[in-house]
Amino acid sequence: MDNPFNLNNLLRENIKKLVPYSSARDEFKGEASILIDANENPFGSPLNHDYNRYPDPLQHQVKAKLSNIKGVPAENIFLGNGSDEAIDILYRAFCTPGVDNVILVPPTYGMYEVSANINDVAFKKVNLTADYQLDLDGIANAIDAHTKLIFICSPNNPTGNSIRRQDIETVLNNFQGLVVVDEAYINFSAVKSFTQELAEYPNLVVLQTLSKAWGLAALRLGMAFASKEIIAVYNKIKPPYNINQATQDIVLEALNNVDQVNDWIKETVSEREKLVRELLELDYVQYITPSDANFILVKMEQPREVYDYLVQYGIIVRDRSKVELCEGCLRITVGTPAENRTLLEKLNQINK
Ligand SMILES: Cc1ncc(COP(=O)(O)O)c(C=O)c1O
Repeated sequence: MDNPFNLNNLLRENIKKLVPYSSARDEFKGEASILIDANENPFGSPLNHDYNRYPDPLQHQVKAKLSNIKGVPAENIFLGNGSDEAIDILYRAFCTPGVDNVILVPPTYGMYEVSANINDVAFKKVNLTADYQLDLDGIANAIDAHTKLIFICSPNNPTGNSIRRQDIETVLNNFQGLVVVDEAYINFSAVKSFTQELAEYPNLVVLQTLSKAWGLAALRLGMAFASKEIIAVYNKIKPPYNINQATQDIVLEALNNVDQVNDWIKETVSEREKLVRELLELDYVQYITPSDANFILVKMEQPREVYDYLVQYGIIVRDRSKVELCEGCLRITVGTPAENRTLLEKLNQINK
């Protein structure tokens, strides 16, 4: 690409000058018989694990396995305490409060805005179009000399649709800041991931997570895929031991179960299509956005009444009806076949 992108021009001055914390495990990495350099408890932990020792700061084993599964070299991977940490670090690395800004394209995942507010960074909103695609002219007009990041969620939360690949490429080719493509829901989509385009686009950061298809939300493991140079920035800023040993151990084991995860994905996609077909039969359901995710955005008459009705039966969906461009909509996560049957049974009773 002929985008005159320069990572060094994007970095905050304090981060350029930052001397990162050097941990005991950074300073000595080899085998040793007596480790008395990190003020750990030498006797052990009260559990049957070596939890008395600090974990690998760069999570080499987990990254090696993820590298195999994702087809991305380990040096292009950062692991965070959820993708929320990967989002927050981008703000802290690139956005000077009171000076820089980012572009958000709502309706989209709320943490991009919250993280901007936490970091006291201005954001410009360029709404998605009526069919939930990028407003490319709007984005081009919103970019100024201090725009550092553009967040694009695809498949998008809460709408569920994928953003057109060609449009994301247009932004990547024309914007000299970082384009963050959040693929939290990519496993449920037939659309190709951007993780294979890192060599093509030095300004690309792809986010994924183990919280959705992988069923590991409680462990908090998010991934950022980017150039070696961007990953070096991440590693310079992150807390030294941001992924704890228990998470590293359990994730290593979980990553052996790709087949199980793929079965769940197939079942979720087939349940999603069934749910869509049956919901469209209800006379108060007006529209369902085609979804590439494990949830659907359903436009209906009287969404708040339907929400309250479902709560009575212990069924909780997400009310998005007050969100701009999602008026009238509830967001429903695809459940197990039994859960979906119960949901439909209750919704059918409203119809009568
Ligand atoms: C689009 C999107 N990105 C990121 C996340 C957060 O993921 P994590 O659990 O890895 O912090 C979510 C969670 O709902 C999400 O919807």
